Amino acid sequence: MIKQAIIPLAGLGTRMLPLTKAFPKELWPLGNKSILENVLDECFDTGINEVILVISKKKKSIKDYFKKDTILEKKVKNKPELLKSLKNLNKISSKIKFVYQDKPKGLGHAVLCAKKLIKSKHFLLLLPDDIINGKNSSKELIAINKKTNSSVIAIRKVIKKDVKRYGIVGFDNSKNLKINKMVEKPSVKNSPSQFAIIGRYILNKSIFNYLGKQKSGKLGEIQITDAMNAMLFHENFYGCKFKGKYLDCGTINGYINSFKEINKK
Ligand code: G1P
Repeated sequence: MIKQAIIPLAGLGTRMLPLTKAFPKELWPLGNKSILENVLDECFDTGINEVILVISKKKKSIKDYFKKDTILEKKVKNKPELLKSLKNLNKISSKIKFVYQDKPKGLGHAVLCAKKLIKSKHFLLLLPDDIINGKNSSKELIAINKKTNSSVIAIRKVIKKDVKRYGIVGFDNSKNLKINKMVEKPSVKNSPSQFAIIGRYILNKSIFNYLGKQKSGKLGEIQITDAMNAMLFHENFYGCKFKGKYLDCGTINGYINSFKEINKK
């Protein structure tokens, strides 16, 4: 059973500057809760009981958000809905741990920062820039992991001009979606397919060995895609064409559209 998850939150949010300068985008609202709570709900719904949040010193407000606040709780004691939302944060707080990424050395490095806390063979990794609405995609990945006992990543077909924004996979076998190549943000010419990695991964903890040796890649950062590509030569990796609707919360326009979509309900 997969019981632990990592959510990297230490990124600088440069695509959404200046709005992210003082206030982390993961705490921006999406529906009646933050983007981060949407992702945490998906996580806990799968049976995960411990989530490691990787933050930076600049993002301490994320830690504050989950801190119990007795003064506020007293203030809203006669407003059941508000009190419930605060109590819900306390409940979440009992299941999360924080680790710090001291330097912005990339997604791969952020994941490596959580290494010491991961106990079981496989763990879930969720990127809060990617919201998948309507169906719990983490559950879909877990089902494939159960069947194959392998690492699994969420994938989605994108248009050609968008391959440069994502990690792109190539297939050994396009029927069972066994992956044989991963390239971070390739040019159209060097792209192994049009299938992009979307931010849900189940990884064997052996990924930490590859991350530990990984040199800087695209954007001068330690890329998890490069480490997974190295791992591919030794272990099976499968893609999961998830069923829910992908909402991109990693750009301003994407965020605005996601907000509208969630509020349609
Ligand atoms: C990250 C990953 C990339 C993946 C993307 C999904 O990129 O490095 O492989 O396709 O998330 O959103 P980033 O959005 O951090 O540039």
